[in-house]
Amino acid sequence: MIVVTGATGNVGRALVATLAAAGEQVTAVSRQAAQVPDGVRHHRADLDDPASLRPALDGAAALFLLVAGGDPHAILKEAAGVGRIVLLSSQGAGTRPEVYRHPVQYEEAVRESGADFTILRPGGFASNSFAWAESIRTTRTAAAPFGDVGLPAIDPADIAEVAAAVLREPGHAGRTYELSGPAPVTPRERAAAIGAALGEPVRFVEQTREEARAQLLQVMPEPVVEGTLAILGTPTAAEQAVSPDVERVLGRAPRTFADWAARNVAAFR
Ligand SMILES: NC(=O)c1ccc[n+]([C@@H]2O[C@H](COP(=O)([O-])OP(=O)(O)OC[C@H]3O[C@@H](n4cnc5c(N)ncnc54)[C@H](OP(=O)(O)O)[C@@H]3O)[C@@H](O)[C@H]2O)c1
Repeated sequence: MIVVTGATGNVGRALVATLAAAGEQVTAVSRQAAQVPDGVRHHRADLDDPASLRPALDGAAALFLLVAGGDPHAILKEAAGVGRIVLLSSQGAGTRPEVYRHPVQYEEAVRESGADFTILRPGGFASNSFAWAESIRTTRTAAAPFGDVGLPAIDPADIAEVAAAVLREPGHAGRTYELSGPAPVTPRERAAAIGAALGEPVRFVEQTREEARAQLLQVMPEPVVEGTLAILGTPTAAEQAVSPDVERVLGRAPRTFADWAARNVAAFR
């Protein structure tokens, strides 16, 4: 049985569906009650309360773990005896460890757990563009800072497919995979791709750094806001690089942002 935390999120929902379709027994974990595919068990637990995970982990062969607060050592203590752990970390754990301390702590705890582990380090998700859903629906505009700085956004469906492969197949133990899309895409190009999927132009509005900072502070702690703005505005070469790891694991190129926009266009109509 495979336990998937974050099971209702952009990555987790696709992962649960992929594993269930492949005939795996799956326990989907999230804090809120949720609809899951037929045959999948759902368990409510909070990673901030590691003991709440325990009933889900009884008899589990593998765990997909996301970074969502809590003490990773206490979480992994509850997962003692689970043979394989796949951690959804973050590119920032490698490129800006002083900012992305929580993913770094999770990585350390997973490495020390004694389980076969694989670490996934994605960069920014294509699904971050859902933040534009309301403004595109209502005014056909999309606002972001650093409109011409490109980053290779990754489709959460690709993260889920990589995770499913790593959870089910041998040969990935001890590896860290950097996950990116196939090419850098700028915010301006992302807005245009959503417009193309809609069949109507979407106007891109470039925010100042300060406007973006104020908006991000509503949903992230200050050090993470600064780290995020640095990645978006002055990315390092590693943050802009296209990684070969999706293709290495799946045997095909990662999906494009245009593909993500076409599949998710309903959110912007
Ligand atoms: N977005 C990016 O650009 C990016 C980049 C690199 C890494 N990441 C990492 O990827 C992770 C997953 O992203 P996503 O887009 O799939 O997330 P998401 O759509 O926001 O979903 C988060 C999932 O985790 C569950 N969850 C949240 N807090 C929890 C807790 N304390 N205990 C148990 N479950 C909890 C949520 O369900 P409930 O609310 O019902 O619990 C939901 O199922 C992020 O958390 C982040 O660490 C994201």
